[in-house]
Amino acid sequence: MEVVIVADRHEAGGLVADAIAALVERSPAPVLGLATGSTPLPVYRELARRHASGRLSLATARAFLLDEYVGLPADHPQAYRSFIRRELEAHVDFAADAVQGPDANATDIPAGCAAYEAAIRAAGGVDLQLLGIGTDGHIGFNEPGSSLASRTRIKTLTDQTRRDNSRFFASLDEVPRHVVTQGIGTILEASHLVLLSFGEAKADATARAVEGPVTAMVPASALQLHRHATVVVDEAAAADLRLADYYRETWAHKPSWQGL
Ligand code: F6R
Repeated sequence: MEVVIVADRHEAGGLVADAIAALVERSPAPVLGLATGSTPLPVYRELARRHASGRLSLATARAFLLDEYVGLPADHPQAYRSFIRRELEAHVDFAADAVQGPDANATDIPAGCAAYEAAIRAAGGVDLQLLGIGTDGHIGFNEPGSSLASRTRIKTLTDQTRRDNSRFFASLDEVPRHVVTQGIGTILEASHLVLLSFGEAKADATARAVEGPVTAMVPASALQLHRHATVVVDEAAAADLRLADYYRETWAHKPSWQGL
C-alpha cells in the first residue's frame, strides 16, 4: 500500500486526476469506479476543469458507482445516481449510458445486485476505483462486520453513518436505512484502488485502515490485501499515522516514472 500525504484536497484532486488521465491515455476502454459523498469532489472538479480546457476526454470510458440508497426516487437529489450526474457527468463527455449504478429500487434486489456484478465483469472489471472512507471505517457502504469476501448486496447503515450523512438531507429521519453496495470482495477486484481521506474526523479510521490489523471491523483495512492500493490523505486525516514521516520520505523520493 502506498500512502501519499498531501497539503490539501486540491493537491489530492490533481494527483488522482493525473492517474485517471494516464489510464485514459493507455487504455482503449477505461473503466472507472466512482465514489460519491464529499470526498471525491476535488477529483471530479479537476476532471471537469481538464475537460473544459480540452485536455481530457472520457468519451471512451465507462464508470460504475459503488453504492446507492434504497428507497429514494431515481431523481432525488441525494440519490447517488443523481449526485454523479450533477457533480461529474454534467461536466465531462461520458457517452450516453456509460455510467451505471446499482439498481437499489429493483423489485428483486438480489437479482439486481447479481446483474450489477455481471455488468462490471462484462465491462472487463474496474481499472481504477475511487474510494472514500466512513468515520466508522466503511468503504462503499460496507459497514463494520461486513465480510471481506462480500459481493454487491443490500446493507443496513449504522447510526453513525446515517448521522454523518444527515448533512445532505433535511433531517436524520430522511436518511435511508438501507443501501445497495458493491461488496468488499467486489471492490478488491479492481486493478487499482485509490482511497481518499480528508479532515480530522477521518484520522482515526484512516490509521486503523492503513496501520491496524486487517479486520472486518474496519472494512477499509481490506486495502492491505490489495496489490495496488493508494491512500491519499491530507495532513489532518494523516494525524494518527505512526509511519507518516516514512510515507513523506517515500513520496519525496519516488521515481518520477512510477506515477500513483
Ligand atoms: C459513497 C461511499 C462512502 C463514502 C464515505 C465517506 O459512495 O462509498 O463510502 O465515501 O461515506 O463519505 P464523505 O466523502 O461524504 O465523507
